[in-house]
Amino acid sequence: MPAAKLGIIGGGVMGEALLSCLLSKGMHTPDSILVSDLSHERRQLLAEQYSIRTTHSNREVIEHSDVIVLAIKPQVFDSVARDFSGVVVDPPLVISILAGVAIARLEQAVPGWPVIRAMPNTPATVGCGMTAISIGSRAIAEHIDLAKQLFSAVGDVVQVAEPLLDGVTGLSGSGPAYVAIVIESLADGGVAAGLSRTTANKLALQTVLGTAQLLQKTGMHPAVLKDRVTSPGGTTISGIACLEELGLRSALIEAVRAASSRSRELGNQ
Ligand SMILES: NC(=O)c1ccc[n+]([C@@H]2O[C@H](COP(=O)([O-])OP(=O)(O)OC[C@H]3O[C@@H](n4cnc5c(N)ncnc54)[C@H](OP(=O)(O)O)[C@@H]3O)[C@@H](O)[C@H]2O)c1
Repeated sequence: MPAAKLGIIGGGVMGEALLSCLLSKGMHTPDSILVSDLSHERRQLLAEQYSIRTTHSNREVIEHSDVIVLAIKPQVFDSVARDFSGVVVDPPLVISILAGVAIARLEQAVPGWPVIRAMPNTPATVGCGMTAISIGSRAIAEHIDLAKQLFSAVGDVVQVAEPLLDGVTGLSGSGPAYVAIVIESLADGGVAAGLSRTTANKLALQTVLGTAQLLQKTGMHPAVLKDRVTSPGGTTISGIACLEELGLRSALIEAVRAASSRSRELGNQ
């Protein structure tokens, strides 16, 4: 069965990440993707690089797609929403990745149309993202499958109830920044221990990447892995004792909680 016609409104960082992974994984062909963007340069670049069709008209995307991904900044949502009014089509699925724009607001913009809200994170730009999706009142199983398939192109996908998206934002949304700080700090420690900056950066990055992959591939609980590399009276337990004393665990827990509650606050404004 041919892939559904995909329309992307906003061909920026996320829009491009999605279309490039869908194409490179063979989940879509260039002729099944239409992207609208205000910027002529952006449209030209996407058309040349991916051989897709682009347009300045959001209306054209809305009228010719089975699935529409909203990938504009939240600030321009109200103006883009006006492009939907009065359109007479067999309602396509609308998937929004706009941070902080609630399903109720999306459904108000496209009354009667199926809507799914998604929250990807930055590693999606290299196909290693974590996306959480929440389902609107009109979306059915077929739409949920479509959305899961779409975001599986840029990483892993989970489904959560909308109120939990604030927690998702605090963990996987903001998480890349926390992990970046962890990697940077590990490298700083390596430099303090006498390693060159280049070597320390490489060791820190590969240690985080390798550990994550080990946990993912084996399904091992993190505590089991920690116990396995901790020998009696050894180096690792000395390092861990230091982390516990300085409160790494509580710092991370509180960071996720603070970011989640900030997300809730911003959503209520
Ligand atoms: N980047 C991330 O890691 C990330 C993670 C999670 C969620 N998100 C969400 O993803 C959405 C897109 O983020 P992004 O980083 O991809 O932003 P972006 O790079 O700024 O992309 C948005 C694109 O939409 C274009 N645009 C602006 N107004 C438009 C209009 N009226 N009609 C059509 N296109 C229009 C912009 O053009 P101009 O530049 O010319 O204005 C730009 O090319 C945001 O809502 C954000 O909350 C992003």
